[in-house]
Amino acid sequence: MCPPAPHSDATLPCDEDIRALVTPLASLEGPLLPMLHRLQEEYGFIPANAVTVLADILNLGRAEVHGVVSFYHDFRENPAGRHVLKICRAEACQSMGSEDLARDTLARLGIDWHDTTANGSVTVEPVYCLGMCACAPAAMLDDRVVARLDRARMDKLLDEAGA
Ligand code: FES
Repeated sequence: MCPPAPHSDATLPCDEDIRALVTPLASLEGPLLPMLHRLQEEYGFIPANAVTVLADILNLGRAEVHGVVSFYHDFRENPAGRHVLKICRAEACQSMGSEDLARDTLARLGIDWHDTTANGSVTVEPVYCLGMCACAPAAMLDDRVVARLDRARMDKLLDEAGA
């Protein structure tokens, strides 16, 4: 465990903890993605200071590491809310109105994609196919897939999640 660092962001783990967590993966072929997955598994997001630590360990540029973090939708750059709502934005769901549903949902919550409601209840993220194309539009609240969504069903989901 790291000593307290008075000038650092208290919500972030310290560099030494990050280094200890990911260094065992450095010998893997293509270690960056496994390291990022390990960090997200441990902290629920990729701490901002991890970019510098990983760049140093892997002898990469920080921009390169940050590029990978931002490219993959599954990596979060901030902690998620208590619930994560993933709304499908792939073709079949789009053709059944998922974009309108997503826009209305985000407007109701007063947030944008990847943001969390002010009360910390829900983070909304895009997903690209949940395998429920025949029952589009679909979304997933935490581990539960919900299909044939409409505004009423979405409102019910959001109420359940405390949004
Ligand atoms: S396109 Fe949305 S579930 Fe397949």
